[in-house]
Amino acid sequence: MRQSVRHWPATPLAKRLGLQWPILLAPMAGTSTPELAAGVAAAGGLGSLGCATQPVDVSHRQIAAFRQISNGGLNVNFFCHERPADIVARSQAARERLAPFYAEAGIGTPPEAAEPFVPFGADHLALVEEFRPDVVSFHFGLPAQDLLNRVRATGATIFCTATTVAEARHLEGQGVDAIVAQGIEAGGHRGVFLDTPLSQHSGLMALLPQIVDAVDVPVIAAGGIADGRGIAAAMMLGAQAVQIGTAFLRCPEAATPAPHRDRLRDAGEGATRLTRLFSGRPARSVVNRLMRELDDSEAEAAPYPAQISLVAPLAKAVAEADRPDVSSIWAGQAVGLGRDMPAAQLTERLAAEADTLMRPANTETDR
Ligand SMILES: Cc1cc2nc3c(=O)[nH]c(=O)nc-3n(C[C@H](O)[C@H](O)[C@H](O)COP(=O)(O)O)c2cc1C
Repeated sequence: MRQSVRHWPATPLAKRLGLQWPILLAPMAGTSTPELAAGVAAAGGLGSLGCATQPVDVSHRQIAAFRQISNGGLNVNFFCHERPADIVARSQAARERLAPFYAEAGIGTPPEAAEPFVPFGADHLALVEEFRPDVVSFHFGLPAQDLLNRVRATGATIFCTATTVAEARHLEGQGVDAIVAQGIEAGGHRGVFLDTPLSQHSGLMALLPQIVDAVDVPVIAAGGIADGRGIAAAMMLGAQAVQIGTAFLRCPEAATPAPHRDRLRDAGEGATRLTRLFSGRPARSVVNRLMRELDDSEAEAAPYPAQISLVAPLAKAVAEADRPDVSSIWAGQAVGLGRDMPAAQLTERLAAEADTLMRPANTETDR
């Protein structure tokens, strides 16, 4: 799609990042690939790589691969969770609850809990300093000030997720360049880092304009946006860009496992819910057997990210039997609007849909 008339005004953030469209691929740890990021960038959006949960050498290869196949913009994303203490003692209840699943899968008993990855630190910073991505983004809060200053010194534009107005104000005070307002609809982990109870978290329609009113930095809308209608609505509510995750999960370039794609295709409204069962932190997944059967044990989950070390071996064993019964299938509430389409084509389609919807409000620009 290269329209001669464009009805969608470029936002300051899109201009700063050199984007044709203010459409950002959400960083998705475990699911992002260089090809997915390059597809979005080729269509004029921002590519991204979720680097939080994988070894640094894998991230190194992925960023290098992106640079080989694209000269577009890239967002490299990391987590800033607090490292858990007393993992072993605080994981006993979760091990007991998972034991019947291990027995059924024939893989013995759950292992002692461990820390499968660490938050943003010196090794991640070295990646950023080597590759100097256009954007560096953080989830679960920000790193320590000295690390953040080093990231800023690379020239990166810095994003961080906020799930409440209080978090957005805090991030603005820390000097972030843009805030990702994550509504409760969003797939994957809530980026929460202050202690507002989840039951008080807002949908994007309510959250976004209140964050826009509360801060002076650009705000990026995330959560439940899957087509031009969602994009146009977010822009009307004051967003300078949209960040979209779930809608890209069925692109052939995404690392979404085949059985998960099938579940995503079948999932409609109401198919997802928030759970701590896969990682220890609240995240939105398509409901599956583990979530149904351990519904009453949310509070017993091991602290983040130790719970992952308990669920991952089980998920792997069961996935090898092609059954996504016990692995997370991160997805947002708009999962039913998903499409099977290559990333560049989907990005162009999203841009065209939004552009068409913005036309009536901008008829005087029709020339
Ligand atoms: C599969 C998946 C993985 C995700 N992983 C990350 C991540 O690694 N880092 C991050 O900041 N956000 C992550 N998110 C959340 C997204 O940044 C974003 O908030 C969300 O996708 C927006 O809602 P939507 O999925 O309805 O589009 C993930 C989302 C999904 C669906």
